[in-house]
Parts: sequence; structure tokens; C-alpha cells
Amino acid sequence: MALRFEVLGRFNRARAAQLTLPHFVSQTPLFMPVGTQGTIKGLTTNQLEEIGCQIILGNTYHLELRPGSDLIDELGGLHKFMNWPRALLTDSGGFQMVSLLHLADITEKGVTFQSPVDGKPMLLTPEQSIEIQNRIGADIIMALDDVVKTTITGPRIEEAMYRTLRWIDRCIAAHKRPNEQNLFGIVQGGLDPVLRDICVRGLVDRNLPGYAIGGLAGGEDKDSFWRVVAQCTAALPEDKPRYVMGVGYPLDIVVCSALGADMYDCVYPTRTARFGTALVPEGILKLKQNAMANDVRPIDPTCMCMVCKNYSRAYIHSLVTKDAMGSQLLSYHNLFYMMKLSRDLHASIVEGRFPEFVREFLQNMFPKGD
Ligand code: GUN
Ligand code: ZN
Repeated sequence: MALRFEVLGRFNRARAAQLTLPHFVSQTPLFMPVGTQGTIKGLTTNQLEEIGCQIILGNTYHLELRPGSDLIDELGGLHKFMNWPRALLTDSGGFQMVSLLHLADITEKGVTFQSPVDGKPMLLTPEQSIEIQNRIGADIIMALDDVVKTTITGPRIEEAMYRTLRWIDRCIAAHKRPNEQNLFGIVQGGLDPVLRDICVRGLVDRNLPGYAIGGLAGGEDKDSFWRVVAQCTAALPEDKPRYVMGVGYPLDIVVCSALGADMYDCVYPTRTARFGTALVPEGILKLKQNAMANDVRPIDPTCMCMVCKNYSRAYIHSLVTKDAMGSQLLSYHNLFYMMKLSRDLHASIVEGRFPEFVREFLQNMFPKGD
């Protein structure tokens, strides 16, 4: 195992921990921004450090297509290649292929898809996914899983869960760097509590360094989503990190942290920035609105970020959709907001005032109590 997970404080099921990885000592609960191609669009790695980012994500599938894991390996690994000294996590690739390429087909061997380069059929097996992730060199690597949308029903959910369990053994066997990289297993099973339970038990039996809860945030209702997270966190080991994949709405992070989850990732904060939306304590602020044209206030008067210290809503309004600087400034602010939320969750749990923090968070977001 190449990590240490020390719980520093708890409030009911919520926990605040220190997660020591080969490249960084991070604090949880933690939001991890997604940098698909080895970059968070529009931000330099110096800015990401300044924002307080601790772990950033890369995608096996995208990095293998361009620039390729052989080249990354040859040039000293992804940390060095992208000049990011802190921790990295790579997702295994199956989810991206299934969600991006509608032609992807899953068999026992692996995920078959059409190459976006030349249209030829290609196969990503659990062994290859781990081999590629070993070359990329992230602190945390993810098992190849069989992901199905939570909104479908029937035997496919069960098949995908059992396949995910069979694939975990192939991933473990293929993993060549367990002393430098942590392989996390991913709990699947849709919205079915029986399948989720079988999957959690199966993965816990493999004694992995950490566990992810997958297959969520795909259009299911919030009650079902929170029920699955609550069930999985209750069954996962206390002394290992728990990562809810694809979750990035601030409210979901607060709720999942209350349920005992530790780590999150999502493209939402940076993607919504590119559409002109800022995350603020009240919810969202749309910088494209005409009302912003002559608003001299910062995005969020309470925010301490570089953007809010230096630029007005009017200025950002004038850039949004017209110049890349508009989305860069908004991405900076939005990631700063997510990292501050992470730090606030951590501190409030350690200091025994988590309920007060949650109450204030909800009051800001829903002032009328709805
Ligand atoms: N990203 C969001 N959800 C998932 C999932 O279920 N599996 C993987 N591998 N990545 C994800
Ligand atoms: Zn700001």
C-alpha cells in the first residue's frame, strides 16, 4: 500500500482525514478537479497550487490517445510531464469510453470501441488499463469497471456488477507498482441494495488501499443517489478512503460528506465556468446576464480568490464567450470555491462544528428554507 489514511475527526458518520500519498499529504473531504488531457483547461499548474488543489485527475483513455503513455513514461511520468508536483489520480478509461463513444461495447475481455483516430476497432482490457496507468504513474489508479447507467433496469446491472468483481482480480494481478501507486476498486450495482452489498463485500475482501462508489450521478433521483452512498459508506472499512465518482455539485459534496464519503471529482465546476456560470454561496451566478454588464462588485464579495480580489462582474461579463480569459477567470474562482468548501468541511468536522457549518451552508443556498 502506498498511502496512509488517518482520521483526524468525526461527526456522526462524517469524517475529516489526512490522506498521505506518494506526492502529497492531502486533507479530506476533498474535491479533485478533472484535467482530462493532463491539464485543467485554462489554468497553469502554478495557479492550481495557488488555488489549493491537492489531487487532480487524468483520464487513461484520453492520455493514451494523446500524447500516449509510452511517451509520458519515457519523459518521466505524468507528474513531471505536466509539471504537477502534487498528487494525481487516473480513471481507468472504461467509463469515459462508454460515456463518450456510443459505439463502445463491453465483453468479458474488456471494452471494445472504435478508435477516434482511424475508426478501427480497439480493445481496452483490465490488464491494459492498469499497464497504461502504471506508465502514467498517478498516486491513485482506478480499476477497470463495467459501468451502466443507473437509470436502466434488468439483468444488465447484475452482469456489470459481477463483471466488475471479476475484473478487479485481473487488475490486481496486472498491477506492477503497488508500492508507488494505489489501486482503488469501484463499487457498482446500480440502485439495487443487494447488488451493491455483494459488490462492496467482494471488493473489501480484496483489501484494497481505497474504494470508490461508481455508477452514480447519471440521472437518478437524489433520494436513490444518497441511499446508495449511505449504504456503501456504511459497509466500507473505516480506515480506508471512500471516493464518490463523478460528484461535484457543492450540495451533493456536503451531503455525501455527512454520509461518510471522503473524495469527489467532477468536470462540473470548470465546465460550468466555460458556460459563464460562477459558484457562489447562494448557489450560482450567471455572468452572461445583462444585469452583470455594469455590476462593479466581484463575483462573490466574501471570496478571497485572485479573481474576486481583482476583477468585477462587469469585466468578466464583457469577456465571457468572447475571450478565453473569461472562462479562465471563472474556472479559477470556481475551483477556489470548491477547495474552500473542502477545507471548510475538513475544519468544521475536526473542530466539532460540522452541524453549524451545514446549517449555514444550507441557509445561504436556500434562504427561504425550500
Ligand atoms: N466516473 C464517474 N462514474 C464512474 C464510474 O462508475 N466508473 C468509472 N471508472 N469512472 C466514473
Ligand atoms: Zn473568487
